[in-house]
Amino acid sequence: MTFFILLNLLTFNQYGYMTNTILIIGAGGQIGTELTQKLRGIYGSNNVIASDIRDNKDLSASGIFELVDATDKGAVENIIKKYKVTEVYLMAALLSAMAEKYPAKAWDLNMNSLFHILNFAKEGLIKKVFWPSSIAVFGPTTPKEMTPQETVMEPNTVYGISKLSGERWCDYYHQKYGVDVRSVRYPGLISWKTLPGGGTTDYAVEIFHSALQDGQYTCFLKEDTRLPMMYMDDAITATVDLMLADKPKQYKAYNINAIDFTPKEISEVIQKHIPDFTIEYAPDFRQKIADGWPASIDDSVAQREWGWDATFDLERTVETMLKNLA
Ligand code: SER
Repeated sequence: MTFFILLNLLTFNQYGYMTNTILIIGAGGQIGTELTQKLRGIYGSNNVIASDIRDNKDLSASGIFELVDATDKGAVENIIKKYKVTEVYLMAALLSAMAEKYPAKAWDLNMNSLFHILNFAKEGLIKKVFWPSSIAVFGPTTPKEMTPQETVMEPNTVYGISKLSGERWCDYYHQKYGVDVRSVRYPGLISWKTLPGGGTTDYAVEIFHSALQDGQYTCFLKEDTRLPMMYMDDAITATVDLMLADKPKQYKAYNINAIDFTPKEISEVIQKHIPDFTIEYAPDFRQKIADGWPASIDDSVAQREWGWDATFDLERTVETMLKNLA
């Protein structure tokens, strides 16, 4: 087992070096910051290039950092060539709530950045790609409970349409050009190191900050809106494990599941730690987005095919969040 993991860590790049050089695009985001830390731990700081459209002191202090706009094909190509990059993790995207406000911008960023990377892989410039998908690929006509890997997919949000289209393009490039691209469908992600921005599941992070600062939170979703969620450590494990797994015969954007809860349920768990904490509800346009998404996810295919398993339940997630933010 260890031997195979080592073999996967060390692949030949186009220059014949026994090395893996990773580029993370959107490394300053909620997932990117923790993914960069994790990958720098595995591959060594010098082999993991962090990049983002915004400067990031933490990322440049812990290794190489490049400023880049993910839609600028030439700039991304220059970085890939400069560092002889073999693998790209494309984490830059406009999330669901933001994408409703800026549909053209969301389509441009979410789709064109992907095309650039898929084309680099097709041309043999890079060997492997990670591209994140989302539970937003599902829609109001999808079965809501234990949503299966393969099911009806009619997303009605700009973000969901871009993620489903992205999945189809990844599959196309895999089938037609043999591109090694891998994806998971992240649920809402809960973390304390970096705030999420512009998503519908962001309330599940905001609630902790407000509980500690103000003892009160006004939630933009209704109290009984159930959504699939995951603590960041599990999401990072899923990402790294999938990338270290054997080269898949087929492209799949895997359902991954951890926990699901409503705003009321998470507030009750927070109240066990902060008894005076109160929550109010003022649903806004994000309610409609949430209403079209699954309440829970069936991830049996990911479990079977690459051994995926989450480790953080709701209690442990709440405890960890409160302890670290306090
Ligand atoms: N967390 C994302 C969002 O809310 C879903 O992938 O937009």
